[in-house]
Amino acid sequence: MNKIGLFYGPVGGAVENVARKIVKAVGKEKIDVIPVKDANATDLDKYENVIFGISTIGSHTWERETPSKDWDNFLPELEKINYSNKLFALYGLGDHITYSLHFVDSLGILGRKLLDQDAKIIGRCSTSDYDFEDSEAVIDGEFIGLGLDEDYEADKTDKRITSWLDRILTEFK
Ligand SMILES: Cc1cc2nc3c(=O)[nH]c(=O)nc-3n(C[C@H](O)[C@H](O)[C@H](O)COP(=O)(O)O)c2cc1C
Repeated sequence: MNKIGLFYGPVGGAVENVARKIVKAVGKEKIDVIPVKDANATDLDKYENVIFGISTIGSHTWERETPSKDWDNFLPELEKINYSNKLFALYGLGDHITYSLHFVDSLGILGRKLLDQDAKIIGRCSTSDYDFEDSEAVIDGEFIGLGLDEDYEADKTDKRITSWLDRILTEFK
């Protein structure tokens, strides 16, 4: 398997903690971890296997059009890259209690941007293990990536990551 590029944002919170867990599980020699606030299309084009990590901060509260501040500069870069040779797997942090109507919305906003570019997305997840009212991240009946809730379901995070990684690592090239 070629090296994975894990691009994540914001820094310093739950998304970053999950990035660390992924590195530990995959092995640090097999994965590079890059904050999206420092990254551009050239950085992304180095990888055929890509993981994106994002959180939902305020699509509801702040009515932001873009998912998170750190992602603001990176989202336009997604229009400049070569998608033909890449596989993407996405994870998103959210809070299914306080934001039940908008659970991990940014995961869906990011996923739709990638689908608009005909990106190949792996690691979609069933919603059956989750309790929420609505989510932009549900596309064709399943989450476009891995949804995680470190605020109210932290006890489920490790198992969710492990079973998701088991699937995507067999598909990465
Ligand atoms: C102001 C604010 C708005 C939020 N809005 C949402 C939301 O719309 N949907 C959701 O699922 N979680 C929402 N959350 C919860 C965060 O996504 C969650 O706490 C996440 O773990 C934060 O990860 P981070 O610290 O890496 O950004 C919000 C949190 C805050 C503080």
